[in-house]
Amino acid sequence: MKVVHTVEALRDQLRGQLRVAFVPTMGNLHAAHLSLMRMARQHGDPVVASIFVNRLQFGPNEDFDQYPRTLDADIEKLERARDVYALFAPNEREMYPEPQNFKIQPAQALGSILEGEFRPGFFMGVSTVVLKLFSCVQPRVAVFGKKDYQQLMVVRSMCRQFQLPVEILAHETVRDEDGLALSSRNRFLTADERAEAPHLYASLQRLRDEVLSGQTNLAAMEARAAEHLRGRGWDVDYVALRRQRDLLEPAAQELCEGEPLVVLAAARLGTTRLIDNLELQRTP
Ligand code: PAJ
Repeated sequence: MKVVHTVEALRDQLRGQLRVAFVPTMGNLHAAHLSLMRMARQHGDPVVASIFVNRLQFGPNEDFDQYPRTLDADIEKLERARDVYALFAPNEREMYPEPQNFKIQPAQALGSILEGEFRPGFFMGVSTVVLKLFSCVQPRVAVFGKKDYQQLMVVRSMCRQFQLPVEILAHETVRDEDGLALSSRNRFLTADERAEAPHLYASLQRLRDEVLSGQTNLAAMEARAAEHLRGRGWDVDYVALRRQRDLLEPAAQELCEGEPLVVLAAARLGTTRLIDNLELQRTP
C-alpha cells in the first residue's frame, strides 16, 4: 500500500485512474472501517482511503485533542487487509493551507436538526472536508456508513447540489455481538459503561417493535425510550423517529402507510457520546 501525505503525491499515484473508490475516515480503524474498504473494492479500482482528524467538525468543547490518533497501527491493519491501494494521510497544513477557510454549509432543514442541533457546525465541518477530500481524490464512488445516518444524507445532498460526479454508497452499521455499533469512541467507555452501552441499540429496537405493533403516538414512544435510558444513567440528547427520506417527522397517517422510517438516538454515558439508528418500515 502506498502511504502519501500530500495532494501532489496522491495525484501522482492516481494519474489517469477513472474508477477510484474512496473511503474517508478519521483513523483509529476498526472492523467497520475495514468492511467499508472491502465494499469499496467491489465497486471500483483502485481503492483509496484517507485518515484525517478534521478539526473543523469538532466543537470547542468536543474531543478533538483526545481523538485517538493511531496511524502506525492503522497502516498495519490496512496492509493486512489488502483492500487499499493508497492511503492519503494529510496533515492540517495540507488540508487547510490558509488560515481562513472556505466553508460550505448544508441546507438548514437537514443540517440544523438532530446532530446539527446538538453539534452546531458539525455538518459544515464534515461537508467542507468531504468536498476537499473528493477534490483531492476525485473518486467515482465513495463509501459511507449508515451508523452516521445524517452524515450520509448530508454528503448525498452535497453531491446532488454541487453536481459532483461521485456515487455515494451506504454500508450497513457494523456491530459487536451484543449490538453496540463499532465506534472509535467506544474505547473511552469504562468497563461498566461498556456493559451498559448495548442498551442504546436495545431501546431503538424496542421503539421499532412498538411502531411495528401498530402504536402511532410518536412523541410518547420517543419520550418513553429517552426516559428509559435516563433511568439507566444515560444523558440523552434525542431519541427521534423520522422519515428516511428527509429526517422530518412522519405524520400519523404516514406511520401507518408504510413510509420508510428511521429511529435515531444520541446519548452520553459518562463523558462518551454515542449515536445509533435503526431503519424500519410498517407494512401497510
Ligand atoms: P469516522 O468516524 O472515522 O468514520 C469513517 C466512516 O466509517 C464513516 O462513513 C462512518 O459512517 C463509517 N463507520 C464508522 N463506524 C461504523 C460502523 N459501526 N458501521 C458502519 N460504518 C461505520 O465519519 C467520519 O469518520 C468523518 O466524519 C469523515 C466522514 C471522515 C469526515 O471527516
